[in-house]
Amino acid sequence: MKNKKILAIETSCDETAAAVVECEGFKNVKVLSSVVYSQIKMHKITRGVVPEVASRAHIEKIIPVIKKAVKDLKVILKDFDTIAVTVGPGLIGSLLVGIDTAKTLSFVLNKPLIPINHIEAHIYANFVGKSKILGLKSKIFPAVVLIVSGGHTQLVLMRGHGNYKLLGSTIDDAAGEAFDKVASILGLGYPGGPSISKIAGTYKRKPKSYKLRLPRPMIDSSDFDFSFSGLKTAVLYLVRNLAKDKGVTIESLLNNHRITAAIAFEFQQAVVDVLAEKTIKAARVYKAKTVMLGGGVAANQHLRKILKQKIKKIIPRPNLFIPAPDLCTDNAVVIGVCACCKLICEKNKNNWQEARINLKSKI
Ligand code: KG4
Ligand code: ZN
Repeated sequence: MKNKKILAIETSCDETAAAVVECEGFKNVKVLSSVVYSQIKMHKITRGVVPEVASRAHIEKIIPVIKKAVKDLKVILKDFDTIAVTVGPGLIGSLLVGIDTAKTLSFVLNKPLIPINHIEAHIYANFVGKSKILGLKSKIFPAVVLIVSGGHTQLVLMRGHGNYKLLGSTIDDAAGEAFDKVASILGLGYPGGPSISKIAGTYKRKPKSYKLRLPRPMIDSSDFDFSFSGLKTAVLYLVRNLAKDKGVTIESLLNNHRITAAIAFEFQQAVVDVLAEKTIKAARVYKAKTVMLGGGVAANQHLRKILKQKIKKIIPRPNLFIPAPDLCTDNAVVIGVCACCKLICEKNKNNWQEARINLKSKI
């Protein structure tokens, strides 16, 4: 396959992102640039994404972000062979900005457009910088992939590039959503994942530490589904009951750093226990050669550490791929790398069946 330069665009939620990726074949997939404009500051005020605010910010930033991704490469838009863009799942107002921009570029430049599934792109974060093994199907697959983001929690069996089977998903809240909502209960900042993980990291169990215990929902269920809504409610009741027992207001209870850190620690531990347990079980059942992680919650250091430890105990031990934290959260590099692999598979006449991923989204 001739060298292809891809301009990738991502606007599915609250990050406006563009990247340039170049590929020839599986052995030559290169990331040339990446720009992410995060709207986090705007959504801190409301402790969550307000869809209209997100769409308007994408409208403002999409062109500057694309210009910046292209600027230092000494290329002009005409040099691109293909445009790739996230088409879903995501917030419709946000998606439309990226899709309309990509369609316009594709029309004006007369270049093909590759539609990319956002969940699939999170999976492909695992292949960024792994050109050497990308084409070695027999060494990587079957793979079990845990995708945990603000909108999704899914366990996927990947039998090859573009070949997926959904093993399980959340029956209510996504893992990232639970982090965000619990952070709000605890009066911590948005997004909840990083703020919970930061305060939980300061908690040291001492003999006199608070012995808090939260449920591990569905940890022993025979399926690969998850549920996090009850865990969030359990945190709410825990906070209320602790305040009542101590005869203080919730506000003054949470002003006690050690108590808030203890609750955050136990909550994070509960989520990680369930995610790790089900992922390891799926890896065993499906004799996975690789376990992969993706989505914003995969940036969680505790989850990464526990999975590494647990994987070591599986015999035979599968490889564990964990993307760099900035590739776990939303970005356009993963859109470009996924588009590259799609192009290569098309060229090799391999079927790409992304429709097998459940596209149902909560956002
Ligand atoms: O993948 P992502 O950037 O956007 C979606 O596709 O949803 O994921 C965002 C989610 C948020 O819920 C955020 O709280 C969570 O990922 N997150 C984390 C961490 N960093 C981001 N959750 C736990 N620990 C983290 N370090
Ligand atoms: Zn995402």
